[in-house]
Amino acid sequence: MESVMDRTALFRDHVDHVVARTNEALRAYAQKDAGCEGIVFHAGKMLYHHADDQPFPFRPMFHFTRFAPVPGPDHLLVVRPGSAPKLYRVVAQDFWHEPPAPTGHPFDEVLDIENVESADAAIAAAGDLSDCAYFGNAPDVARKLGIDASRVEPELLVSLLDWDRGMKTPYEVDCIREACGTAANGHLAVRRAAMRGASERELFATYLEATGFLENETPYGSIIGWDENAATLHYTSKRVAKPDPGYVLLIDAGTSCFGYASDVTRTYATASAPAEFVAALDAMDDLEQELVNKVGPGVGFIDLHIDAHRGVAKILHETGIAKKSADELYDLGLTQPFLPHGLGHHLGLQVHDVGGRQKTPEGEIEAPPEKFPSLRTTRELAVGHVVTIEPGLYFIPMLLDPVRAEHPDAFDWDLVDRLVPCGGIRIEDDVLVTEAGREDLTRGLIPGHREPIDG
Ligand code: GLY
Ligand code: MN
Ligand code: MN
Repeated sequence: MESVMDRTALFRDHVDHVVARTNEALRAYAQKDAGCEGIVFHAGKMLYHHADDQPFPFRPMFHFTRFAPVPGPDHLLVVRPGSAPKLYRVVAQDFWHEPPAPTGHPFDEVLDIENVESADAAIAAAGDLSDCAYFGNAPDVARKLGIDASRVEPELLVSLLDWDRGMKTPYEVDCIREACGTAANGHLAVRRAAMRGASERELFATYLEATGFLENETPYGSIIGWDENAATLHYTSKRVAKPDPGYVLLIDAGTSCFGYASDVTRTYATASAPAEFVAALDAMDDLEQELVNKVGPGVGFIDLHIDAHRGVAKILHETGIAKKSADELYDLGLTQPFLPHGLGHHLGLQVHDVGGRQKTPEGEIEAPPEKFPSLRTTRELAVGHVVTIEPGLYFIPMLLDPVRAEHPDAFDWDLVDRLVPCGGIRIEDDVLVTEAGREDLTRGLIPGHREPIDG
């Protein structure tokens, strides 16, 4: 009961904050552009497979969920300066489908809600919104609301609100924290089952069982890969076969809480893994924690990313995988094929949350350095940001083969060949930027691979 009360108070403050920020965005938009008198946030329309009556799994539009964590499509939320936000909530009369299960969220204690029976009834109840902007996936709904195409997600207004989503409110942090907690149950159960030699598919079932989530309820396709499958960055097939050889398991899996995601990766080596791989894994875990400990307000994420590459260079050198010095490896760009993704990204309602490349609230973009095109986050860190820190070191033949041809003496290629069946390493924590520096939201819940766990 106490935590429900706490969440109600947190959510009330969150809505007040988000309304105030939205009103400010509307003022800024009116100064620079045509302006509008409010915004209608549409949960969105359900989308269907082509020529079929089967829908894709539905997720309400994220700007909508920020105000109203109400499952299901078609709801409208109208925000106008000077009045409380109004939610037109669709509770369909439908004997084919049940309404979404109650979520336990106290939104109905905080928001002004009018229940309606259909999408069209919501549009009729909302009335003439021609002076508003529309956010959502259905331009035809905007048209029915009288909203001109020029006011469908106006770029400046989107940038202003995306920027603002970077700074999480205490309510949002509370949700992400809870999502880390449920993910931890799954990660710990998977670690135990992996050490018994369970298949990827069995491990995924274990993850769902331990978290209490359905597959479509996780914020992204869970990555559970044995051995060389760990080298496919977004591997999601989940094989039925038992692991063979069963050297390494990589699990990258999260859950969500009222729409807010966790995104956590651990890599485990079994007793049969090559010693050089285990040495690299231990060193990567140390590197990840060093990088986490550099997170803080005012820190440039590009600098952290460069530190990650310099750290990987050192590990490649010290494990004997590379024959060149760490500086030479970095200067020649030879860490990139081993770490081809960015160090991390903002985390929130979207697992790869918005605004990571924004330099200003108005939407000026800071592109990643040419050398690191995959870096999603170039934004300077600020208090309230939640980011992932996820360095990796992989043995990906399609990236390493050209390096082998061009730099035959730079690496111990026999050793690389022995490590290819191990796939790779990624270690990922979710980190809140605080006044004092940071809080690692995951480490205390999901220990590193060297720390023992019960069972
Ligand atoms: N799970 C996807 C990522 O780590 O970005
Ligand atoms: Mn991840
Ligand atoms: Mn991630």
